[in-house]
Amino acid sequence: MQTVEAVTADVIEDGVAGRIAMFGERKRATVAADRYFYLQTITSPTNHRVQAVGREMIMMASYSYLGLIGHPRIDEAAKRAIDDYGTGAGGVRLLTGTTDLHERLEARVAEFGKREDAAVYSSGYMTNLAIITGFFGPKDLILMDKLDHASIVDGCLLSGAKWRTYRHNDMEHLEKLLSGAQGASESILVVADSVFSMDGDVMDLPGTAALCRKYGARLMVDEAHSIGSLGATGHGIEEHFDMVGSVDLKMGTFSKAIPSVGGYVAATHEIVDFLRHNSRPFIFSAALPPAQTAAALTALDVIEDEPERVQLLHRQQQRYREGLEALGYDTMDSTTCVVPVLIGDEGKCMDLTRELFDRGVFVCPIVHPAVPRGTDRLRTTIMATHTDEDIEIARDAFAQAGRKLGLIG
Ligand SMILES: Cc1ncc(COP(=O)(O)O)c(C=O)c1O
Repeated sequence: MQTVEAVTADVIEDGVAGRIAMFGERKRATVAADRYFYLQTITSPTNHRVQAVGREMIMMASYSYLGLIGHPRIDEAAKRAIDDYGTGAGGVRLLTGTTDLHERLEARVAEFGKREDAAVYSSGYMTNLAIITGFFGPKDLILMDKLDHASIVDGCLLSGAKWRTYRHNDMEHLEKLLSGAQGASESILVVADSVFSMDGDVMDLPGTAALCRKYGARLMVDEAHSIGSLGATGHGIEEHFDMVGSVDLKMGTFSKAIPSVGGYVAATHEIVDFLRHNSRPFIFSAALPPAQTAAALTALDVIEDEPERVQLLHRQQQRYREGLEALGYDTMDSTTCVVPVLIGDEGKCMDLTRELFDRGVFVCPIVHPAVPRGTDRLRTTIMATHTDEDIEIARDAFAQAGRKLGLIG
């Protein structure tokens, strides 16, 4: 009997087979060189320390910025939701998938985000698709920051709208595109990440909001990396700039500082109600499960009830970043808990990752095509639960590994 592999290879010899073969070769070479760092197995809850690849490591790459995974109140709420509702919502939101937990979460998100209303989806990725395809089509124009998340790009592609990118955080370029677009489209959307996920810098909200007002464009902001982490009390980009009410469409995720899964859009009641009835992920994809809904709901309470977590995060991110810069590393324009370490070369990036792993520090290499060629980097992150000792150990590992590889003096 032929194996499945043999049958497939015999029958289909097309472009897909070629791409699979090329990928396989590249992966085998990377594994053979001991430079494959993806899909690492973690066998504990993710916090500042994790059990990974069979031992304890300092986690320097998690999205769980506030260290809330495993928080007793949040875990308890999720368990209670399973007792009360079971494990699935049993349908899409529009039909049979809306429980009172979903309604409470939406009201809580609206309150947290200082908006009239909010709708929740089963992932942040879906939320971006939902908002963009829900409102925008071929007669409209979308202008997005060059470094916006892939889900925004995918939303634009799926919507059929015309779209262009402006240079990263470059208000002159955005204004040029906005002024050139006047009268050519029915609606214009400007969309940006609030904290850029690979660079760790913050969008220019004052500049972007002023241009949107001047040129009659709507403003959408993706708060995936700012909700819980940015602003004195973790309420995000509008708090950070003291500009509450300046964003038309605020979206975010429950998968980063909030230890669950799902996404939300917060806006006026009219906008949100339109999306509840006109966005495909709300209508054609299953509702968030009860446990995850309850976890997100309770996490928002915890963020407000334990403000010291955000303060600690801000203290530790600065301490960590300054430590790396003092060693001679380039952390780009990061001012947040996302701290890239620019290396500029894929091979060296992988070598540094290996050295750090061997010293018990879990980091993630981010290389082309995820970032432009020549800007290969480690994407490291800080959590509120990182101790001074964790940061010292990580910095020492960066010092030893960087000197060994000739990356720093
Ligand atoms: C900026 C940004 N937006 C959206 C998403 C998608 O969110 P989720 O993982 O909840 O689908 C991500 C995920 O990493 C992100 O970084």
